[in-house]
Order: sequence, then structure tokens, then C-alpha cells
Amino acid sequence: MSHPLEELRASALTEIADAADEQTLEAARVRYLGRSGSIAVWGEQMKTLSKEERPVVGKLLNEVRNAVTASIAETGERLRAAKEAGALANIDVTLPGAPAEIGGLHPLTQMLDRAISIFRRMGFALAEGPDVETEWYCFDALNTAPDHPARNEQDTFYLPDGRLLRTHTSTVQIRTMLSAPPPIRVIAPGGAYRRDEVDATHSAQFHQIEGLYVDEKVSVADLKGTIEFFLRELLGANTEIRFRPHYFPFTEPSFEFDVRSRAIKGGKWLELAGCGMVHPAVLEEVNRARGDDAYDPEKYTGFAFGMGMDRLAMLMFDIPDIRYFAQNDLRFLRQFA
Ligand code: DAH
Repeated sequence: MSHPLEELRASALTEIADAADEQTLEAARVRYLGRSGSIAVWGEQMKTLSKEERPVVGKLLNEVRNAVTASIAETGERLRAAKEAGALANIDVTLPGAPAEIGGLHPLTQMLDRAISIFRRMGFALAEGPDVETEWYCFDALNTAPDHPARNEQDTFYLPDGRLLRTHTSTVQIRTMLSAPPPIRVIAPGGAYRRDEVDATHSAQFHQIEGLYVDEKVSVADLKGTIEFFLRELLGANTEIRFRPHYFPFTEPSFEFDVRSRAIKGGKWLELAGCGMVHPAVLEEVNRARGDDAYDPEKYTGFAFGMGMDRLAMLMFDIPDIRYFAQNDLRFLRQFA
């Protein structure tokens, strides 16, 4: 007759193999291997056996425990695999997939991209600089006196450490000239910041395209020609452009220019930019900071401009409020995608 432990093993292995799901298997595990399960009970009974019997039964008990443990692990694996396969079988691969949402470019990005591609055709490279700047890049190097109103805290966001959010992209003129000798022909699109009262046409953050061209014999005619070509490419051949004398500390002479075009809503003149011939004092300060004479004002001249992009984009896309640009409202953005 076989030992009762062998019978226990036989019935345990059959029961485990027959388990139809994970709960049944777990119940069997508790019954055989649990703290008060049959195998534990046998372990307790070992004490009552004679010296001769003990090693024989002990060995058998170990074999039974190992066999039951292995069988439970194997069956568990099989049940989990079957469950997974069942779940996968329920997926209808012929159903249409979830549509991929395709994003669109923000209207300001579209505007900048168009402008950039026109300037690139004229040989302007892209330059950039940080939004957080020092007073030197934003004002001193641009020949802006310490008492100039633009430095006022009312206009400029100062950081506690004395740095500031650039009030214009003209900072990139200085960064570009410090990094390379002439000839320079770059545009720098980017954000600028001023403590403006926010309303439909004013935002504390706005966008400009800065331009800088320094070489031998650059003249006001080059400035005008470049601006006129750019605006006619952007807004159409019928675009009218007018230059007005103006004042900026970093250019001499200085101008502002306005545009009027069918592409611009309202048919009115739009004041678009400041520009002028780079002031010799700017070139001299750049030389001082570079420690050389690369931008010798006797040899090199240059023009610069800084164009506001937000107002232009508003008029071209018929956007009534500048705040829409930064609200991330999909109902607004989808109209330009
Ligand atoms: N930085 C000026 C502003 O934000 C615009 C400007 C004027 C830029 C003349 C220039 C310039 O490069 O030459 O109002």
C-alpha cells in the first residue's frame, strides 16, 4: 500500500492541474501549502514518528512539497498566459484606429516663418539671444544713457539679481558682433517684454524681428531697398512704404517706417518698425568689449531694424485682440492650422 503522503501528492497534483482559473488554484495552494495546510500538518506530525521512520517520511514530505509547489507555479503560468491570450482574442483588429491629431502652427509662428524665409533669400542668417539679459546688452552697449526712460522700472521687468527681460531684440545685435567679425548679415526673431498695461493691443510679451547688416559701404539705400523688398514679398507688390525720421540711441540717422497694403485689414498706415544706420558709438563699444578693432567705424557701416510682428499678424489674419495669441484656446488656434 502506498504511503498516505503519496496519496496526498497524487490528489493535490490532479486538483492543481484541473484548476480552471486563478482563484481555484489559489484555494488549492492555501489548502496544501498554507500555514495550516495538509503539508504543514504533516510537518507537525513528524515529531510523533519513530527515529527510523522520521528520515524516510521527512524525505518523502520534502518531495511532495516540492512537487506541489512546482505544479502550482506551472499551472499559474499557464492560466495567466491563457487569460492574456483570451483578452487579445477579443480585440477587433478590423476596427478603425484612433485618428492621429495633426497639430498646426501658431499664427505668429507662421508669420515669423514667412518673414524668415524672405530674409534668408537675401542672405540673412538666423541669430538668437536669451530673453533674460543684462543691462549692458539691453542698454549700455546700445548707446542708451543711464537716465534713458526705457531703463525705468515702469517699462522694464527687472529680476532681483539686476538682470532683466529684454525690452527689445536689439540685444542680439551686440551678441552677434561680439561672436564674429564683419561682414554680418543676420535677423533675430524673438520675444521682447515691457511692463505695458495689457489690453486688446498691448501685451507684456510681444515679438520682434531684429535685423543687422554690417559691412563696408552699407548705406541708407541698402536699408530702404532691403525693407522694401521684404515688405513687397510679404504683403504684395502693391504695398506702400514710408520712412519717417525718428530717434533711437543706437542708430544715426534713425527712422520709423509704416506700411499700407491690401493684405493689411483696415487700409490704414501701420507703424511697423524702427531702423537706422548703426551708431559709431555702438561699434566702438563692441570693439572695446571684443578687445580688438574688428568693427572699425571708419571702415564699416551698418544698418539695423527692429520690427514688431504681433500687430502685423493681427492685421493680416484679422485678429481683434493680441491676448488671443497667448491664451492657447484651440477654438482660436484651429482657425489658422
Ligand atoms: N529696438 C527698438 C524698439 O524696440 C526698435 C529698433 C529701432 C531696432 C531702430 C533697431 C533700430 O535695430 O535700428 O523699439
